[in-house]
Amino acid sequence: MKFFLDTANLDQIREAQELGILDGVTTNPSLMAREGISGRNNILQHYIDICDIVIGDVSAEVIATDLEGMIREGKELSGLHPQIVVKIPMTREGIMAIKHFSRLEIRTNCTLIFSIGQALLAAKAGATYVSPFIGRLDDISVDGVELIRSIVQLYRTYRFDTQVLAASVRHSMHIIQCAEAGAHVVTCPLKPILGLIDHPLTTAGLEKFLADHRKLNS
Ligand code: G3P
Repeated sequence: MKFFLDTANLDQIREAQELGILDGVTTNPSLMAREGISGRNNILQHYIDICDIVIGDVSAEVIATDLEGMIREGKELSGLHPQIVVKIPMTREGIMAIKHFSRLEIRTNCTLIFSIGQALLAAKAGATYVSPFIGRLDDISVDGVELIRSIVQLYRTYRFDTQVLAASVRHSMHIIQCAEAGAHVVTCPLKPILGLIDHPLTTAGLEKFLADHRKLNS
């Protein structure tokens, strides 16, 4: 399973890259706004800056909601850097844009997926990734991880190449559950990834090893 960082924060991306486990980055307009990135040129430059840090796919989202605008923006984004994946919302126009880009072999990430039917359509249109938002489903008492499991199963049955990119991942347990459900990718902030590292028995075990070593070597 691949680990993507869901942020536009360059420091966090650098930190995850240094950790050696980073496979890519996803962004969205809210995450860009959180970093205070505004204006077309600054936004485009920020995507290039992210690509310069991470080795792997970087999702950059279109703002347009009409087909013509999505195609225009998507072409501009994909032309920025070979690592860019064009992120397109799950709408009627979005499906058409994904199909268009699929014919041109431009990679896409279909975002704001909340149902198996949406995931089926995105795969039919040729999306490279689908992004089901599991945390937002959990927020309304729908099991987000179950949706991941269902999509993975559906794609296996019909041998779709589309990869399931679990998004809106909020905590470390989500990562584990998505891995068990067969997600190809999990995207989340750095904190839930770091949460996988620590265990009290690891800490205690290491302290004991070092104490025993010091007894004979000090
Ligand atoms: O990848 C989607 C993500 O950024 C949304 O997360 O926590 O706002 O549902 P959240």
